[in-house]
Amino acid sequence: MAPSTEEPEHGAPPASGQDIDETKTSAQESTLDKLHPYVQVLNLNDLESVVNLENATFPPNEACSREKFIYRLTTCGELCLGLFASATPSTPHSPLRRLSESSFSHPADSTDPSRKEVLLAHIVATKSTSQTVTDEDMALPPKWQSNPHADPHLGHKEEGRTICLHSLAVLPEYQNQGLGRTLVLSYIQRMQSADIADRIALLTYDRLVPFYERLGFEYRGKSKAQYGGGGWNDMVLDIKNRLGSV
Ligand SMILES: CC(C)(COP(=O)(O)OP(=O)(O)OC[C@H]1O[C@@H](n2cnc3c(N)ncnc32)[C@H](O)[C@@H]1OP(=O)(O)O)[C@@H](O)C(=O)NCCC(=O)NCCS
Repeated sequence: MAPSTEEPEHGAPPASGQDIDETKTSAQESTLDKLHPYVQVLNLNDLESVVNLENATFPPNEACSREKFIYRLTTCGELCLGLFASATPSTPHSPLRRLSESSFSHPADSTDPSRKEVLLAHIVATKSTSQTVTDEDMALPPKWQSNPHADPHLGHKEEGRTICLHSLAVLPEYQNQGLGRTLVLSYIQRMQSADIADRIALLTYDRLVPFYERLGFEYRGKSKAQYGGGGWNDMVLDIKNRLGSV
């Protein structure tokens, strides 16, 4: 992704990513350069976009529920990151332009009020005291709004040193163009510099083990988690002792 120091085209919001991906292909480079994407921490204002993106990318038994997103964005939004791009009515016709005209888009922070931002990819996470992601980490604590400490074993644990990356999703229109990799690399860098955890753990499908290995994650075998029917693989990236970038 382009460094954030340049003034973006057409008054688009500044890219806040760093020059982290040295190995992208020229096709991916061209998509990223055209989109001029930027990363931002997610909050409840992004809820509709996050729910839409999740439902567009995961089957219903695996997609995170709206209520869980409300819980995660409220409780630990600082662990949740979105990759955005923006468009105006004069942007050439493209998936981005179409998406910017949908009800999920927001006005971008721009001098041009017609510029709308679109969430292209997200990472939603919590923290755990476990080394890998468990079903308890994935759970929604009952009555969390009225009694946040009702069941301390479920959901986000502020004192945990493991970031559980529950959801990585890229809009179908933009998959396989380098956005997922860019967002994960940006996320790793941010979490490492914030020094809020020792590792990032996630559950993934067999088919995506090589994708995460290329990003530096280690395969830790089959997970005991039964979320969404089970069959997951444990992947872990040590960010405490990680040197340099992938
Ligand atoms: C998986 C996902 C996040 C990857 O992001 P992306 O922007 O599409 O991927 P990138 O362009 O950064 O990287 C491409 C690489 O992703 C991997 N990949 C993407 N989709 C894949 C799939 N369905 N099967 C296997 N590998 C896949 C490949 O390694 C690919 O590398 P290649 O181009 O050399 O084959 C995205 O495709 C997605 O949202 N998929 C649906 C939801 C999902 O599965 N999320 C992850 C849950 S653990």
